[in-house]
Amino acid sequence: MSSLLGSPQPTDSPAGWQSGAILQVSDLSVDYIMERGIVRAVEDVSFDVSPGEFVGIVGESGCGKSTLLFAIAQLLAPPATVSGGSVIFKGKNLVGLTDKKLAAIRWQDMSVVMQSAMNALNPVTSIGAQFKDAMRAHGVTSKEQIAERSAEVLKMVGIDPLHLKSYPHQLSGGMRQRSMIAMAMLFTPELVIMDEPTSALDVVAQRSLMIQIKELQQELGFAVIFVTHDMSLVRHFTDRLLVMYAGQVAELGATRQVFETPLHPYTAGLMDAFPSIRGPKVPLTGIPGSPPNLANPPAGCRFAPRCPKVMDICRTTAIPLYSVDGVQVRCLLYGNEEARG
Ligand SMILES: Nc1ncnc2c1ncn2[C@@H]1O[C@H](COP(=O)(O)OP(=O)(O)O)[C@@H](O)[C@H]1O
Ligand code: SF4
Ligand SMILES: [Mg+2]
Repeated sequence: MSSLLGSPQPTDSPAGWQSGAILQVSDLSVDYIMERGIVRAVEDVSFDVSPGEFVGIVGESGCGKSTLLFAIAQLLAPPATVSGGSVIFKGKNLVGLTDKKLAAIRWQDMSVVMQSAMNALNPVTSIGAQFKDAMRAHGVTSKEQIAERSAEVLKMVGIDPLHLKSYPHQLSGGMRQRSMIAMAMLFTPELVIMDEPTSALDVVAQRSLMIQIKELQQELGFAVIFVTHDMSLVRHFTDRLLVMYAGQVAELGATRQVFETPLHPYTAGLMDAFPSIRGPKVPLTGIPGSPPNLANPPAGCRFAPRCPKVMDICRTTAIPLYSVDGVQVRCLLYGNEEARG
């Protein structure tokens, strides 16, 4: 039986959607306020993350994944602004907190690893000096403590602590990403947010970095939100999967279940495009076209122009999320008895 979800319902929800969540994102919307008009890049997104849970977010480029992460970590800068909803982290709404309060939470309780360590790391400072700065900023001043912890986190990601003396350009791409992950571990956070941390690497380095992230997560018990446009990566490493399309949740459920029975035609299309973690990536041959311009999204289902199962009614009605066996899906195939025939 499918039921209409007016708002997130704790009792009728996929695994991990319990009240013990460390992160609760509710009805979160983010706008880019441009001269030409408002672009809503994230619309009414709701999901929870349980302690120690590994949540994957997938979707093509331009679907709002990075904007969502930046909103969760409260790292948005103009012209982007949270236009609605809340981000409750360990019981506290981060939306509207002062920079000072946010700075205390970031790194210590929640850390962020971005796509390119080359941009995130300071090119003219050694890795060790950057770790030291991060620790000092959070009140750790003992030289011994700083040296010990810096060496410890580098070892955790398989890098010889000798490299504390290295500058970012002296490391390989994989080692730079590992250093960023090490830096994110300095305070043993409870939540690590990662935006395509492996996408700049070749397939072999991607795989080995993923395994390392997973091992660390299992050992230290932190939760992860992992963004990628690569379905093959999330398949083996995540517990729960959020599929984003054009700024909205298209499908949300336990990863295994979503892979076994993808409900949304977009999810099915993404899976066809990435057949194997080792195989070459192929373009979305099953889904011609590209995501809509969010400055002017389609009136009905945003996927309608590309959907192989489109019905007339899809083009006129805004589509809500339906709940099917614990999975949420934004598609009329699962909600409208008449349309299904
Ligand atoms: N700096 C920006 N200024 C204006 N619009 C932006 C900006 N960055 C992103 N957007 C809008 O937000 C949408 C989502 O972007 P993004 O969050 O980067 O997607 P993804 O990470 O899934 O590739 C884009 O399609 C674009 O419409
Ligand atoms: S609502 Fe209609 S157009 Fe949209 S994904 Fe479902 S079947 Fe396709
Ligand atoms: Mg992105």
